[in-house]
Amino acid sequence: MSENRRRAERLSSSARILWKRQGDDFLQLDRVRDVSAQGAFVVSDAVSEPDAALEFELHDEAGRALASGVAKVVRLGDGGMGIAFLDVTIDAAEVSQSMPPPRPPPPLPAAAPPLPTAPAATSVEWVAPQLEPLSVPPLDRVIIGIDLGTTNTCAAWVDERVGEGRPQIIPGRTGGNTIPTMINFDTDGRIHVGQRAADRQILYPRRTVYGSKRLIGRTWQPELAAEAQGHFAYPLGEAEGQRFGIDLGDQVVSMDAVAARVLREVRATAEDFLQREVRSAVITVPAYFSEVQREAVRRAAFMAELTVHRIVNEPTAAAVAYGHARGEEARVAVWDFGGGTFDFSVVDIRDERYEVVATGGDNFVGGADFDDELASMILERFLEAEGLEELEPTPQQIARLREAAELTKRALSVQSEFDVRLTDFAREPKRDLSVTITREDFEARTAPLVERTLTIARGVLLSASILPEEIDDVVLVGGTTRIPAVQRAVAELFGRRPSKRINPDEAVAHGAALLGHEISAGEGPVLLDLLPMTVGHAIDARRFVPVVKRNERLPCVEVLTFGGDLLGRIQVPLFQGESPDAAQNEYLCTVVVEDARLRDGERAQIRLSFDEHCLMAIDAFVERSGKPLEVTLDRERPLEDILQDLGAFDGPPAPEAWQLPETRISKVLGKLFGFFRKK
Ligand SMILES: Nc1ncnc2c1ncn2[C@@H]1O[C@H](COP(=O)(O)OP(=O)(O)OP(=O)(O)O)[C@@H](O)[C@H]1O
Ligand SMILES: [Mg+2]
Repeated sequence: MSENRRRAERLSSSARILWKRQGDDFLQLDRVRDVSAQGAFVVSDAVSEPDAALEFELHDEAGRALASGVAKVVRLGDGGMGIAFLDVTIDAAEVSQSMPPPRPPPPLPAAAPPLPTAPAATSVEWVAPQLEPLSVPPLDRVIIGIDLGTTNTCAAWVDERVGEGRPQIIPGRTGGNTIPTMINFDTDGRIHVGQRAADRQILYPRRTVYGSKRLIGRTWQPELAAEAQGHFAYPLGEAEGQRFGIDLGDQVVSMDAVAARVLREVRATAEDFLQREVRSAVITVPAYFSEVQREAVRRAAFMAELTVHRIVNEPTAAAVAYGHARGEEARVAVWDFGGGTFDFSVVDIRDERYEVVATGGDNFVGGADFDDELASMILERFLEAEGLEELEPTPQQIARLREAAELTKRALSVQSEFDVRLTDFAREPKRDLSVTITREDFEARTAPLVERTLTIARGVLLSASILPEEIDDVVLVGGTTRIPAVQRAVAELFGRRPSKRINPDEAVAHGAALLGHEISAGEGPVLLDLLPMTVGHAIDARRFVPVVKRNERLPCVEVLTFGGDLLGRIQVPLFQGESPDAAQNEYLCTVVVEDARLRDGERAQIRLSFDEHCLMAIDAFVERSGKPLEVTLDRERPLEDILQDLGAFDGPPAPEAWQLPETRISKVLGKLFGFFRKK
């Protein structure tokens, strides 16, 4: 028996637990047995109700602190209660020894073939000029695939020696196939990532970031923040560089930094699992991500010390997982409905060639919106049943409601009704919450969300003149496609049942891993993707002038020409989107050509080049002579000032940039954190 095992057994028979309750002086010491990394059995009269979460410290018989954290009561009876550790900081190794870690694969051979490197950018200005070129010589040949999801992040790799080159999932630290894309900022400065952060959300909703992917890379605008705030149970704030972030009171941490922390965790987990250094990745992003959002993901990866060899659209990666090594020819529709985003792409697969023929999506419709609707509905039912006029839920109550809503939603994917119970939901007056939600109720309430995805998909098909019956197979990707109403809607649109060939949770990471593997082997399937949104510049009266239209095949180049009357400095604010009002589109940056002194009749040209990753590079030159002009990209100037200079929009009313559904919960959150929606 190992020393650790012996110590673990000794601990299990002698440990004590000290309970603490936040906000008052509640302290209680109990004996514990059967301690493992996941939980323990407490010999005591109940200190709490099932589901209640309490802070604890675990001590040995001499009073030495062994571990501390937050635990939840999961079972009452047998002279005590079973508790699960939601979050535990282990001060003594013996506590974790009773849990075997996932078995890592055997180490790989060390030889690493060289990888292609990107040509160095000379006079070209990348949107994030401080970053290195996309590919740098790798330190290691393992290129993992990462699906950085709104809700869950999943990593995979290809081990040639097992499974005939099929991708394998890299498990998270708690053994699951994905890790929650969440971060919790402890008041003592510690940062918890993944499951630990998710477990702390109910206790610390204001300090737990979820849904960061919806805001990554976006330029902070107070009006957009007001709209978005209703969908986040933590206060949003303006982070450095006009970015969205979480406002922790003493600092605002940007969503880009949050993504970097998640990616760092993925990298560390992969290193532990693969038992070798991991420095390279293929990362997926929603097809409907703008250029700045893609760039922000690459920047986050850079901060996490990962070289990104390819940024791939999530539905395209799923198509790779679908078509890999099958040698077939098919036109597939990928319906990617995840936690935060909806993407729809039509991909033609021929051997190992993947050609995206049409794509579209919405970064503000996903499983989280179903949760918000359902949470609002549960609250309304509770108020109705209790005859309570009004109850403005606290952040904790909202976090509990959203957790219960998510659970209810999943249950309703397989059963026709679900009883939601939350003990001690309200304190004054003291009330438990107990309501029953039927699938019918749920479907009626969330039908507009499903309808929104149908409208997008129909539009995408129409824009590419594709009839639904011309699709050979429909592939469902993302957890939200488990909702029966979603499956029905898809089946109805295409007149066929969706394919069951790929796993909706893992396909994107699998596809990314396959691409990573092929890149490391110096070959790759041919991926032909499209520019998802129009890129253009703004002129007077905020009018948006398209330069490169959406659905343009990548890579692509377009040139803007400016007449000779523009002497001196040329400034061109670039935006991405489909609205005629530039302000409703995503701000990319302002191209600045300094010292563009043109002679009579000469014109300056600004060239926008999009590579196959959909990242943009810019250079400028004199039209006829081709003489290079110095170009810089400005992201510092406040967008408000830029818009003010352009003047008020004088075109037809443009659709709102973000059409976020307003729910009872979103109204409370908006108010709680000091933002008010216009209207
Ligand atoms: N059985 C189920 N029924 C309904 N919804 C489910 C089910 N299982 C998971 N979900 C939902 O799926 C969503 C997570 O899906 P997924 O992991 O594919 O998203 P993601 O990749 O994190 O997000 P995105 O792709 O939008 O960035 C969550 O909203 C979750 O509640
Ligand atoms: Mg996803």
